[in-house]
Amino acid sequence: MTQRSHWGSKIGFLMAAIGSAVGLGNIWRFGYMAYENGGGAFLVPYSVALVLAGIPLMILEYSLGHREEGAPPLAFSRISPKWEAIGWWMPTIAFFGINLFYAVVIGWCMNYFVFSFTQAWGADTGTFFMSQFLQISDGVYQLGGIRWPILFGTLLTWLTCWAICFREVNQGIERASLIFMPLLVVLTLILVGWSMQLPGALAAIKEHYLSPDWARINPLTAAGGKVWVAAFGQIFFTLSLGFGIMITYASYLPQKTDIVGNALITSVLNCLYSFVAGFAVFGTIGFIALSKGVPFAEAIKSGPGLAFVVYPEAINQLPAGKTIFGLLFFLVLIMAGLSSAISLVEAFCGSLIDKFGFSRGRTVTVVCLIGALGSIIFTTRAGLYILDIVDHFINNYGLLTGGIAECLFVGWVLKAALAREHVNRVGKVGLPRFWDFLIKYLTPILLTLVIGFALVNEFSSCYGGYPASALLLIGLGWLVGALVLALILSRKRGLA
Ligand code: ALA
Repeated sequence: MTQRSHWGSKIGFLMAAIGSAVGLGNIWRFGYMAYENGGGAFLVPYSVALVLAGIPLMILEYSLGHREEGAPPLAFSRISPKWEAIGWWMPTIAFFGINLFYAVVIGWCMNYFVFSFTQAWGADTGTFFMSQFLQISDGVYQLGGIRWPILFGTLLTWLTCWAICFREVNQGIERASLIFMPLLVVLTLILVGWSMQLPGALAAIKEHYLSPDWARINPLTAAGGKVWVAAFGQIFFTLSLGFGIMITYASYLPQKTDIVGNALITSVLNCLYSFVAGFAVFGTIGFIALSKGVPFAEAIKSGPGLAFVVYPEAINQLPAGKTIFGLLFFLVLIMAGLSSAISLVEAFCGSLIDKFGFSRGRTVTVVCLIGALGSIIFTTRAGLYILDIVDHFINNYGLLTGGIAECLFVGWVLKAALAREHVNRVGKVGLPRFWDFLIKYLTPILLTLVIGFALVNEFSSCYGGYPASALLLIGLGWLVGALVLALILSRKRGLA
């Protein structure tokens, strides 16, 4: 059996965990989620979701991985073998449901990094992104062949993930995170500072980002319900919860470790990063609205293309320094993305290594090869449609059901009090009894309500205007496929 990996230092673990949390979700996804869901209004349910689900679950995932010294399948089966499939569900949906398209979006960023040298996106950045770069097809069923530059960027992403995860965590992921994260913070701050001084930026930030429109978040209206669903989904995505990542990362920690402190630092810094990055997104959209003379809400077509349309457009308007700011923005996205992509790879590989005792090198090689092959579908001309559907279903249902399952598992099967005692025994910052109440009742009930809202929305209109058959086939199909795979993996004979 292979020796279990360990982090080399506390700061190394924290950088890796924050690196996993801070990713494309904080800039690319948070930007269009907040823009589509009312800007400042989005921040309210987002903060509620952080406090009532994000932080309690971060503590839960850290304590579970640390107490059982295992990635999710091992951690679950050590407590009760019947639940091992749930332990597989999380890394499986994270890898097949998120990592496959995540690598493609990093591939887009790599292409845009190169485009930045000449501002190859031209004057109409929206048309360039959709028609020239993605060469988007007329519908989700028209794959229309592979876009080779996107495939190339995607393969480069997988190669980088492979090169980092191939080594033990203290030599691969930890070292990479120690380089990526400080650099990322500095570059992001430069970017935010630059965006905020653009004409029209401050007014837009004040009006659309920092002043919540309360009417938009009334959960009793269909539109308000959607904002709450989006906020909870975003908290899971951005904190890497329900992915199995934080369970896996905590399993490499030393015996004495401050779980509550680490969970608070990871969650708060991550959300602070998003909040600060939001200034850049809203400021830049404000600048574009002013330059074009259009209302803020109409300045840009939102959706997953937002970052690839807004920034190039803003760069075009700059009097000088176009190239350097283009390079800066896409470098930030690439680094943020890579430090999260490696954590997605690690959660799945760590699970396989735990159960089957495979060597790290071989596991990482095979998993990255499968990942690269699986990503191809998202590099086709229908890739953006498929990505949007998969992202919607995996976030709103896959991650959230994983969250409910782990609450019920730790709350009732292990018993929340036992997990809390473990946290208090190994760390300095005490965990109050109230946490038991959150994990056993409040958080799973809230998450169930959110899924209920999401389902009502699903049945009242087809998400994104896609045909119902595509939503069933791709969205539901992806979830069912992951479930079947999780069940198969849990049934296989392992080392135990
Ligand atoms: N937590 C990662 C992100 O936000 C997956 O991108």
